[in-house]
Order: sequence, then structure tokens, then C-alpha cells
Amino acid sequence: MTPQLLLIGYGAIAGEVKRAAVETGLFSIGAVLVRPERHEAVQRDLDVPVIGDLADLQFRPALAAECASHEAVRAYGPVLLRRGIDVVVTSIGALSDDALHEELHSAARQGGAQLVLPAGAIPGVDAISAARFGGLEKVSYTSRKPPGAWKGTPAEQVADLDNLREAVVHYTGSARAAARDYPKNANVAATVALAGLGFDLTEVRMIADPDVSENIHEISVSGGFGTMELSIKGRPLPSNPKTSSLAAYSAIRAIVNKLGPVAV
Ligand SMILES: NC(=O)c1ccc[n+]([C@@H]2O[C@H](COP(=O)([O-])OP(=O)(O)OC[C@H]3O[C@@H](n4cnc5c(N)ncnc54)[C@H](O)[C@@H]3O)[C@@H](O)[C@H]2O)c1
Repeated sequence: MTPQLLLIGYGAIAGEVKRAAVETGLFSIGAVLVRPERHEAVQRDLDVPVIGDLADLQFRPALAAECASHEAVRAYGPVLLRRGIDVVVTSIGALSDDALHEELHSAARQGGAQLVLPAGAIPGVDAISAARFGGLEKVSYTSRKPPGAWKGTPAEQVADLDNLREAVVHYTGSARAAARDYPKNANVAATVALAGLGFDLTEVRMIADPDVSENIHEISVSGGFGTMELSIKGRPLPSNPKTSSLAAYSAIRAIVNKLGPVAV
């Protein structure tokens, strides 16, 4: 029997994970945990148990994958880790809360389990994280998006997003303040921070640029290893235009690396 995954959330990323389970045959979905109001609709689409709480889980999963929200990381991450179940987290921005971060660490230690943080929408997280061990001097991250992508964020107070003619830098500061003030855009900044210099020393810039149509992530790192410049224009998932497709593929990679015969 293939290893069984507990999926938390059933949105865009989880849908890709389900597809990969079928296509790779390396793991299967053992159960899906969703909010009560989604229960019926999700059960119609799946022939595995759909549950509303960990108390309803009828088996011990080989791995859990959170593909839901900050709130889900808080509600289920520590419990699963304490039970000795490894957890892949996609809502990495949740870890900008030091108290939750520490709770997850101590739960993982208590349970002898691992919290797995995939690279998500960006390249080079393996290199940044490795470079740490030779000492890092500077890590900066720039998020460049079309003006409309910043609607509903504090960028609206800095720039007239409907009438921009040139790029405007609407945020410069630490990854910690970025995660606090732009929670819906926090995942990438948080991932860069956790891989490298931490939330307080990672420099973040956010740019509303009328000349781009994609979401562009640029990362610049220097340290004992040398220097590195990374850039990616991510294509979104059709099922959720706010989510880069690479974030879903990166979650699948983390699952396959944990449950498959080879990790690459
Ligand atoms: N790490 C990265 O680079 C990266 C990139 C994109 C998205 N993300 C994050 O990944 C997560 C999933 O993204 P998505 O595109 O699949 O989102 P989505 O909105 O398409 O799907 C999320 C699903 O999870 C469900 N959900 C939310 N909270 C829940 C809870 N407490 N219990 C059960 N179900 C819950 C929602 O109802 C929804 O169906 C989001 O938090 C998003 O911010 C991370």
C-alpha cells in the first residue's frame, strides 16, 4: 500500500497535490480535512474520508500537508507534530509569529517529527539555506507586481494604483513588518527570511509596476559563499490566480521527497 497523506484544505494547491498522487503513484490521499461548510461539496468530489477535525481521523497518516491558511497551521500543526507526524506547511507566512514558530519547533522536538517548509513560489531556497552555514551578509527580496495585485493592501495609501504610469516602491523594510502589514503576500518574504537571515534582518521591497503583467520575485544574497541573484516570473494556477503554480509543485516535491524512495 502507498503511504497515506492527510491533506488539510482542499483548494488550488491541494487540488494539484491530489492530481500528483494519482499521476506519480508514490502516495495516496488518506483523508482530507476541510471546514464544515465545505464538507458536502468536497465529499462529492472525493472518494476518501472528508473530516472536519483531527478527532475524526481513523488512521495514522504517513505525513500531513497543510494547504489551507495561517489559521490551519496554528490549529493543526502543533497537534500533529506532537503526535510524531511530519507536517508540510504551505502557509509559511504564519511563521512570522514568533510564538507560533516556537510552538511548532517545540512540538516537533517533543514528537520527534519534522516541520517541512517547501520553497514555494521561489527558486534558490536550498542555496540560501546552505549559504547560511558559511555566514550571510545581506539578503534582500523584491516583490514586483502589477498595480491591481496590490489592491486591498497598504500600498493603496502610498500610490494611486488605478493611475500609475511608472513603478512605485510602496514598501521598504524588514520581512517581519512586511509579514505583519501584508499578510496575504507574506509567504515568500517569510520563506526567504526563514532560509536566510531571519525576519528582522531580511530586507524587503514591494513595487507596483504598471509595465509588468506577471508577479516577479527577485532575491539578492551575499555572504561567505559569494553572491547570488535570483529572479522568477511565476505563472499562476488557473484555479487560484493569486497562487503561483510553482508553489503547488514545490509542495508536491516536498511530499514526494518525504514519502518516495528518492529525495531530489
Ligand atoms: N509558500 C508559498 O510560496 C505560497 C504561495 C502561494 C500560496 N501559499 C499559501 O498556501 C495556502 C493554500 O493556497 P491555495 O492557493 O491552495 O489557497 P485556496 O484559497 O485555493 O485554498 C485554501 C483552502 O483551504 C481551506 N481552509 C482555510 N483554512 C482552513 C482551515 N482552518 N481548515 C480547513 N480548511 C481550511 C479554504 O476553505 C480553501 O478551500 C494559502 O495559505 C496560501 O497563502 C503559499
